Amino acid sequence: MNGQIKNICCIGAGYVGGPTMSVLAAHCPDIQVNVVDINHERIKNWNDPNLQNLPIYEPGLGSIVGRCRGKNLHFSTDLQRHISLADMIFISVNTPTKTKGIGAGQASDLKWVESSARQVASYAQGHTIVVEKSTLPVRTAEVIKEILNTSQPALTMQSEVPTFDILSNPEFLSEGSAVKDLEDPDRVLIGGENNNAIKALSEIYRNWVDEDKILHTNIWSSELAKLTANAFLAQRISSINSISALCEATGADVREVARAIGSDSRIGSRFLDSGPGFGGSCFKKDILNLVYLSRFFGLPEVADFWEGVVHLNTWHQKRVSHLIVKKLFGTLAGKKIAVLGFAFKANTNDTRESAAIQICKDLQNEGAILFIHDPRVSAKQIAIDLGSEPIDKVSGAFKQLTLYKDGDWSSVDQISDAAKDADAILLLTEWEEYSQLNWVKIAKQMRKPAWVFDSRSIINHKKVIEAGLNFWRVGDGSNWEV
Ligand code: UDX
Ligand code: ADP
Repeated sequence: MNGQIKNICCIGAGYVGGPTMSVLAAHCPDIQVNVVDINHERIKNWNDPNLQNLPIYEPGLGSIVGRCRGKNLHFSTDLQRHISLADMIFISVNTPTKTKGIGAGQASDLKWVESSARQVASYAQGHTIVVEKSTLPVRTAEVIKEILNTSQPALTMQSEVPTFDILSNPEFLSEGSAVKDLEDPDRVLIGGENNNAIKALSEIYRNWVDEDKILHTNIWSSELAKLTANAFLAQRISSINSISALCEATGADVREVARAIGSDSRIGSRFLDSGPGFGGSCFKKDILNLVYLSRFFGLPEVADFWEGVVHLNTWHQKRVSHLIVKKLFGTLAGKKIAVLGFAFKANTNDTRESAAIQICKDLQNEGAILFIHDPRVSAKQIAIDLGSEPIDKVSGAFKQLTLYKDGDWSSVDQISDAAKDADAILLLTEWEEYSQLNWVKIAKQMRKPAWVFDSRSIINHKKVIEAGLNFWRVGDGSNWEV
């Protein structure tokens, strides 16, 4: 029994809304779940009969969508209809950092949340529970509440004035393992004031989550807990990345340091992998929100503390590109670099805030010609992120390298195409396939002296060195120049 909830509408069919609603539908066959979006192309892709064409890549997601779609899981652009039918509405729209106006570069842009709230206010009927799912700055619930309680409904035939309860239910899923995280969450957090609304949402989760994992808080604590969780996780990565630089300078090895500190149960072993710098749509945005809020509430020391985590991350990304320039004799002009991985982490096609974007741009600025490979990211997406079009292949093959201009880039389907005549290979995303490369074969194709830069520590360094290549990996103070 799911309380009164029989019909759910989720506004926003993105990386959060899509997987969350798919898993919910799979566990609640008695609830009709409608995921709506203003983006027609996205909805078309969610409805594609070929499950390989879903708009986001997440391991395990295709089979869940295949099982539920058309039964109790539907994807649609008809917001009005599905909002009006819903007993519960999840707001799961994007909240990127503002690019202009007050708070630009720090505060979240709430225009999509606001327009969703206005759509709910216009079309909802009867009593509706509105659930904040997007990552939002603290006190956004108040904004939503005000819009819902003061806007005029658009449906004139309504016999009763619509009423609302607002809950905060932040999502803690991590891309690449979203289905697993949703199936077996560490906790589900529900913030709110009205016990009936909290109970209704808790009962939905109780279909697959143990009761003791469902935490209830007030609405502001719930909103702040989400920002704080992401800030703490990001802080660990900046901490270990800062130590990686010290390891390289002193001859220590960051993997050994991480293992040693991670076995202290007070510290724990997760989120201690040094990499090229954290990316993803949440970490930077959420920390900058904390920074903005702290300054707003007159707490500059708190703001400075958290801002340092983002500064360190930016510095660390630059450190990787500077190091490559230095190792390649101080110039990248006309040199070919094979880039392995563009997504912000493995098992996703998401590139938002990926370290690869800044690092590739830096290398292009130095004149490098980049051949970029990623098993899931399209050339179209890379072009959007780099702000320049790729150089096309000529009749299926790549042109002579001498015909490329400094800073040009191409996307490649085969790693061997990327490696041919390359001066360096730079690994940026920890895709499993990159840990199993045949280095003897690759070394034969590269121009010597050639380098392999492993920013994720997934390559078997012995095999690279045996193949006669120079090797650098993040946080390792050993010197592997041949
Ligand atoms: C994060 C939070 O983990 C999740 O709870 C929240 O809901 C959304 O934000 P996500 O951004 O999907 O999830 O991925 P996450 O696994 O946290 O990785 C973020 C970035 O940190 C990636 O670029 C990843 O490569 C990097 N990372 C992660 C490291 O560099 N080292 C680590 O040890 C862990
Ligand atoms: P997230 O990672 O938070 O899920 P995404 O950008 O992947 O972010 O997805 C957010 C989705 O919300 C997008 O597909 C966007 O088109 C959709 N969206 C934004 N505003 C609205 C709105 N007012 N009504 C419906 N959908 C919206």
